[in-house]
Amino acid sequence: MNIPLLVFSIIFIKITDSTIKLQEQFSWSALDYKYKDDFERSKAIRTKRFVPENNLPVGIEVWNEKLFVTVPRWKVGIPSTLNYINLDQAKNTKSPLLTPYPDWDSNEFANCESGLTTVYRIKADACDRLWVLDTGTFGIGNTTQNPCPYALNIFDLTTNKRLRRYELRPEDTNPNTFIANIAVDLGRTCEDAFAYMSDELGYGLLVYSWEENKSWRFTNGFFMPDPLAGDFNIGGLNFQWDTEGIFGLALSPVLTTGERILYFSPLASNREFAVSTRILRNSSKVEESYHDFVALPERGPNSHVTAKVMSEDGIMLFNLIDRNAIGCWNSRTSYGPTNIGIVDSDENELLFPSDIKIDNYGYVWVMSDRMSNFLLSQLDYNDINFRIFVAPLQVLVSDTVCDIKIAHFKHFVI
Ligand SMILES: *[C@@H]1O[C@H](CO)[C@@H](O)[C@H](O)[C@H]1NC(C)=O
Ligand SMILES: *[C@@H]1O[C@H](CO)[C@@H](O)[C@H](O)[C@H]1NC(C)=O
Ligand SMILES: *[C@@H]1O[C@H](CO)[C@@H](O)[C@H](O)[C@H]1NC(C)=O
Repeated sequence: MNIPLLVFSIIFIKITDSTIKLQEQFSWSALDYKYKDDFERSKAIRTKRFVPENNLPVGIEVWNEKLFVTVPRWKVGIPSTLNYINLDQAKNTKSPLLTPYPDWDSNEFANCESGLTTVYRIKADACDRLWVLDTGTFGIGNTTQNPCPYALNIFDLTTNKRLRRYELRPEDTNPNTFIANIAVDLGRTCEDAFAYMSDELGYGLLVYSWEENKSWRFTNGFFMPDPLAGDFNIGGLNFQWDTEGIFGLALSPVLTTGERILYFSPLASNREFAVSTRILRNSSKVEESYHDFVALPERGPNSHVTAKVMSEDGIMLFNLIDRNAIGCWNSRTSYGPTNIGIVDSDENELLFPSDIKIDNYGYVWVMSDRMSNFLLSQLDYNDINFRIFVAPLQVLVSDTVCDIKIAHFKHFVI
């Protein structure tokens, strides 16, 4: 492990080019995987267990020297859904191979007990655990099949062993359920941990308590799509994602009151909503919590969001998919268009930024993947399609409305 050097090399790249804030670390025309040898890889291609052009990276996470990359099984030929890149080894590589995490066997399709079928977004916590929601699905849209139930898998990143697998209860989901996002709320100890999962098409917010090994489900009108915000124009395509509800999730730092704020937004919406983790952590609140959920102002037109994250000092970053951009909001200011900044944008390189994370060293990682073109049209495999960028948070927010420093952390919400 060689973190200080890695950080140093990133900083060095930054200094050589000060006009663009996000620095491209990796890029691919098509993804490829680290097979045992060429023979194994050729056999996988021949038997269609690996079809390179069907592999779309969707989620990222960074823990120490590992950069995780998830690839959903939307089509045939996805050999492994949870993967990583070793950042030390990939330092001078433009298009590194993906290595299955923790290994090939654990990524076996439709092996419900010990395999992972489809993983979207993942979250590492401060107790060196990786939280991985397996949707158990194959396909996307109206062709989706469910060979396995939804199950939360939690791995110990120090041993690469699975600590736990928790199948969601039948009551946690409904026939429309589609969960592609997760946030992890760590309290005072590693036992005091909760996962929040957004059911985008079944319109629910699921909670899992690590300590109690139990889950429950909130419903609220704020999880629904806004019927006036279902039209999208991205990458030269016009399409309607007008049934997509609650999607992006971000947790605030712990407030002086001991709770966090979970910020969330439906995909077909330009609005942000919030709720205290004091409410979410209490399963009795499922019955009566309507007034505990808060609607914030809209971000403005063309500001659909699927992924967001908040830094330990209260700066939220989120993907603005219609603007090929990453937006920011400093939670010391009131939410609304005038306090929302753009930290970087590029209509080619940031075409569909699909995930954003902040690592323990204060570096922001962004992946762009041309997802809407992949789903609704097709990608040009002679072109670069997938990119991963990095930049220090402080560099990203400098010269934006988010770059204000106030000594005392204060939330304007709740
Ligand atoms: C599924 O969706 C595709 C594309 O949106 C459409 O062409 C097809 O008719 C749909 N099939 C069913 C069974 O609804
Ligand atoms: C968690 O609960 C599930 C049943 O809901 C059970 O199968 C599993 O063994 C439990 N895990 C732990 C660690 O208690
Ligand atoms: C959980 O919510 C119920 C119902 O509002 C309340 O009576 C109870 O005190 C709460 N529990 C905690 C630990 O806050």
